[in-house]
Amino acid sequence: MASQPVEPCTLALFGGLGDLALRKLFPALYQLDRAGLLAADTRILALGRESGEPATHMAEIGEHLRRYVPAGEVEEGAMQRFLARLDYLSMDFLDTDAYPVLADKLGPVARMIAYFATPAAVYGAICEGLAAAGLAERTRVVLEKPIGHDLDSSRAVNEAVAAHFPENRTYRIDHYLGKETVQNLIALRFANSLFETQWNQHHISHVEITVAEQVGIEGRWGYFDQAGQLRDMIQNHLLQLLCLIAMDPPSDLSADSIRDEKVKVLKALAPIAPEQLGQQVVRGQYVAGNILGKTVPGYLEEEHANTHSDTETFVALRAEIRNWRWSGVPFYLRTGKRMPQKLSQIVIHFKEPPHYIFAPEQRPLISNRLVIRLQPDEGISLQVMTKEQGLDKGMQLRSDPLQLSFSNTYRSARIPDAYERLLLEVMKGNQNLFVRKDEIEYAWKWCDQLIAGWRQQGDAPRPYAAGTWGPTASIALITRDGRSWYGDL
Ligand code: BG6
Repeated sequence: MASQPVEPCTLALFGGLGDLALRKLFPALYQLDRAGLLAADTRILALGRESGEPATHMAEIGEHLRRYVPAGEVEEGAMQRFLARLDYLSMDFLDTDAYPVLADKLGPVARMIAYFATPAAVYGAICEGLAAAGLAERTRVVLEKPIGHDLDSSRAVNEAVAAHFPENRTYRIDHYLGKETVQNLIALRFANSLFETQWNQHHISHVEITVAEQVGIEGRWGYFDQAGQLRDMIQNHLLQLLCLIAMDPPSDLSADSIRDEKVKVLKALAPIAPEQLGQQVVRGQYVAGNILGKTVPGYLEEEHANTHSDTETFVALRAEIRNWRWSGVPFYLRTGKRMPQKLSQIVIHFKEPPHYIFAPEQRPLISNRLVIRLQPDEGISLQVMTKEQGLDKGMQLRSDPLQLSFSNTYRSARIPDAYERLLLEVMKGNQNLFVRKDEIEYAWKWCDQLIAGWRQQGDAPRPYAAGTWGPTASIALITRDGRSWYGDL
């Protein structure tokens, strides 16, 4: 990371005492400060509904910082410098009278970033308030996901924001785009002609994208139950990963060139008709089970749970992209809560050689796989076929990995959190890693038809025990095509 500070700005953080701000945003800003990337006069104003003394709330922010920044990375000097930039203002985001008070508090501002870490339902009111108080002109707005819960509601949010902020000052977050290894997909694909020439239906048989989490709902039942895993993870993170894997090479690295290519992929995603859902999509909901030797409750037994909920905590599906590059290549997507481990990984399965000359029993071994591990143990491995060593081995084949482990290669470098990168890019005014309005809308359109199909079919989620890889139907989903999930996880 370069250590030249970016231009100074005032960051107004709406939802400044919320979970996201405390767990992710303040630690990320602290790390930017520690790396020398925040200009001396950059200020951060946390805005929350919570009344009381600002000093009390700032102390609370400080305590959380010390909790969430790894111990070895808490440097007292940097911590004090960071805390000195902070201020707190209590305000009701829906109250129009609160915005002139905010403007007074801010004073003259050359460049402002308004970060909305609040429910999307209040984005419109915040934008109006900022505009009415004369705070919109030099401001970039950052919108957290989820933006709406379907196409119509996301359009309404986007329009309410667009009434005051043009697209080139609107930064929609999908934090997966800020992950170092996700950005590496662009380097891997477009800086290596080796892969790019093979990246199509002539050479690739299928693609797997798995984003598994070990955690359950973690006190977020109210939000999660309204959303479910399809809206919470597939509509954004998994479809973004799919786009980065499937898109055509952009003509340059500009934000719009990349986003234009991603949109083409989203537009080419084949809808899944209600009558195909049974074969192509599996919904699951975890029941009590065992994780790391501990019994954990089922989804319906979590704190504040509605015991009749049929919200899914797991989705596996088989998607198809209708274009020349990907015709006939299934993309298997799988994501769930309470899986045996936290794992985000993409596996590209290459086709068998066109003419097979080795012993028939070795045939199942034959196929190259490119495994891109996004988290944990970030790295890339390419499974290649070699011959067993030894006089007595004949032409016995084995599959060996060519490994590139980022954690080993860059042993001394810490991998920055996604939010560090994203906040830095907003400060620089670079929209590459943010999602454009039409991307969000095409992603919703595709997810909406799945949700409508589930409703029409009365499709209830299938139970799976916490600590397993989802309902058995998700295994059948892929074995029906004569394949299995990589590593038979
Ligand atoms: C968020 C989802 O967007 O991503 C959460 O709302 C999920 O439900 C989280 O836990 C996963 O992010 P990460 O970076 O831990 O993989």
